[in-house]
Amino acid sequence: MSTQREATALPLDATGIEAVEEAVIADLTGRLGATVSDELTEGGSPARLVRIDLPDGGAGVIKLLVDLPGAVDGHDLDSFRVKIQQIAKVRQDAPGLGDVYTELSDVFYGSNWAAYTMPFYPSRDIAEPLRHGEKPGAHYEPELGTILDTLITHGYLRERTSIGPGHIADVHGDRLSRRFWLLQKYLPAQLTDADRIVINGMVCRNPLHLAQRIIDDPSLTAGVDATWLHYPVHGDLNTRNILVTDERKLANRVGGYRIIDPRGTLGPWDPAYDLSKILFSLSVWDAGLRKGFTIDSARSDEWTVGIRGGNYPEYITAAHGLLPLLRTLPSFRELTAGDAGWESRYLLGHAFHLLAEAACRLSDIKKRTNEDNDTALSPIDLATGHYLYGVLFLENAVQQLEASGSIDHEAALARLA
Ligand SMILES: Nc1ncnc2c1ncn2[C@@H]1O[C@H](COP(=O)(O)OP(=O)(O)OP(=O)(O)O)[C@@H](O)[C@H]1O
Ligand SMILES: [Mg+2]
Repeated sequence: MSTQREATALPLDATGIEAVEEAVIADLTGRLGATVSDELTEGGSPARLVRIDLPDGGAGVIKLLVDLPGAVDGHDLDSFRVKIQQIAKVRQDAPGLGDVYTELSDVFYGSNWAAYTMPFYPSRDIAEPLRHGEKPGAHYEPELGTILDTLITHGYLRERTSIGPGHIADVHGDRLSRRFWLLQKYLPAQLTDADRIVINGMVCRNPLHLAQRIIDDPSLTAGVDATWLHYPVHGDLNTRNILVTDERKLANRVGGYRIIDPRGTLGPWDPAYDLSKILFSLSVWDAGLRKGFTIDSARSDEWTVGIRGGNYPEYITAAHGLLPLLRTLPSFRELTAGDAGWESRYLLGHAFHLLAEAACRLSDIKKRTNEDNDTALSPIDLATGHYLYGVLFLENAVQQLEASGSIDHEAALARLA
């Protein structure tokens, strides 16, 4: 399989969507007295984002989702509506996050679409300095530490609800089972249907079977499952959803950032899910979407996967350093006190995020190009890259659970080498 394919086959038929988007954007800008000034293309979903100039001289953003039949759960219109409710909820419940959480200016609903507007925040994403080769200690780590400390203190710790066993199976196992049909439909059958495949030299079991094993055998995750859930402050905490707006203010711990784009979840939530989204951004996702993957198979059951041209070296350093950074935060220690399975859950969540993302790539209708040379990145290749990494990390995580009931951080991240 080659990642150099010219044709970018979009699995989902988005014909007609763009025309609806254009009509809705024309209608909304008319109502707001605004003009479109730019397209925002950094996101990872089928949502359309445009920057607008407002009549008062300010800049705003319209985020619009037109219903796309066949989109994975999480990319559908219902989730988008809940996303809007979550922003409103957090803004109301958590005044301590008022200056740093995304604002919600206007909300609009149509029969097959929903949209909201917010101010445009001139910014960079939290991980940008790492892409330029800056050491994590210079900006990224102190900034992320401050941001997470605030989110934990004023967000997650607002609520603490006890929960019975089986949460991992419910959240991660079921999510993979629900989305697997999409992977089976578009990825090579040797990858999704075989009992075993070798990836980067490691023999891996079929991830659907592993997810089923986790669902069927609660003892496997007994020491890892969450015992407490917390306030649902986000749910999709990838590095592109953490925008640094003012480095000086952030360094002085007086705002200087905005958290945007929550998942759309209103019930008690496991913060490990969110924090492993940061790990996932650094390990594979962000570089994968910017550069693409190199994927080869010498035989149908032997595959290699890598990020094309290699991941950004400081992303790898930051991935290894995320857990140690978290451990330095007093609020994090409070959040995880008595939660012995926290680290293992974070690492298991990371593996499942990669697999869930593989399905998301197949319901993405944005055209993506390589950041260096504008080559089109096929959604199928992006899905396959995430899938192969996901299978590799999940196999390692489950092997460790089977051997010791927990997952060791460095042993898990050794897959990133
Ligand atoms: N208000 C804003 N100000 C500045 N940039 C923004 C703003 N909203 C979005 N962006 C930019 O656009 C990107 C995509 O936006 P967003 O994260 O809301 O959508 P998404 O990830 O595509 O969608 P979703 O997760 O809802 O499926 C962001 O990562 C950010 O770079
Ligand atoms: Mg986003």
